[in-house]
Amino acid sequence: MYLPSFRLDGQKVIVTGAGRGIGRALAIGLAEAGADIALLSRTKEDLEETAKYIKDLGREALIVPTDVTKREDIKESLNHIVGKWGKVNVLINNAGMNIRSKALDVTDEEWQKIMDTNLKSTFMMSQEVGKIMKETNTDGKIISISSVAGTVALRTGVVYAATKAAMIQMTKVLAMEWGQYNICVNSIGPWYFKTPLTEKLLADPEYLHEILSVTPLNRVGELQELVGPTVFLASEAGNYVTGQTIFVDGGMSIKGF
Ligand SMILES: NC(=O)c1ccc[n+]([C@@H]2O[C@H](COP(=O)([O-])OP(=O)(O)OC[C@H]3O[C@@H](n4cnc5c(N)ncnc54)[C@H](OP(=O)(O)O)[C@@H]3O)[C@@H](O)[C@H]2O)c1
Repeated sequence: MYLPSFRLDGQKVIVTGAGRGIGRALAIGLAEAGADIALLSRTKEDLEETAKYIKDLGREALIVPTDVTKREDIKESLNHIVGKWGKVNVLINNAGMNIRSKALDVTDEEWQKIMDTNLKSTFMMSQEVGKIMKETNTDGKIISISSVAGTVALRTGVVYAATKAAMIQMTKVLAMEWGQYNICVNSIGPWYFKTPLTEKLLADPEYLHEILSVTPLNRVGELQELVGPTVFLASEAGNYVTGQTIFVDGGMSIKGF
């Protein structure tokens, strides 16, 4: 047999930002692959909605309201999850936000909020879950949702871009340090997907036209199209892949003109 398993039966997975958009799609897709999912975000009602889909699949969904910018919140949530499951196989760092100010207008408050939500949370979650994976001797997978904005200069705003670039580099260093524990650390860099974060932008025909003109596949992504690469990285099929960023971008990041 050469075909490894893409299944995640019995695996225990944490998804941050699981209340809507990409996080919800990934949580449901990973449950379809057989995993039980701990759902983290600040809004309990959103998590309850995501949990319905997962329970319908016959998988377990833990609703764990958490502000991932706060170390104490993270620790409390992980205590709860490990108390229930005893281990964590996969962490998906997906929670994120943006404020699209021009560089000359960025305030200190905006800088801090975007840095904390996108970058510091990814580090703190990875660090705390990394400790658990090491202590429980679990061959773990950590996957962070960065962005094409972390490698190509876009008009998404300088702070957002800086956080996403840093996530890509953090992925490489964590992969290097934690390879000895059999923890694989990777990242996924999406281009445009329709979610509550982007729907207003994508509803503007002029903006959409501009986006599509630099996208070889000439369309925005479908949320399901992020699930395949995530399941690949989370499963046995991705066991020898670490430190990488897979751009799921319709070819946007490789296009010249
Ligand atoms: N959509 C795209 O086209 C696109 C492209 C490239 C990269 N991305 C990245 O993909 C990720 C998801 O984006 P999305 O479009 O799905 O965004 P979204 O629809 O706005 O969802 C963001 C999720 O993150 C959660 N979140 C935000 N701050 C949080 C905090 N402090 N603690 C816990 N959870 C928090 C939100 O829940 P609460 O507000 O209830 O906490 C929500 O569930 C982000 O990292 C984004 O940068 C998206």
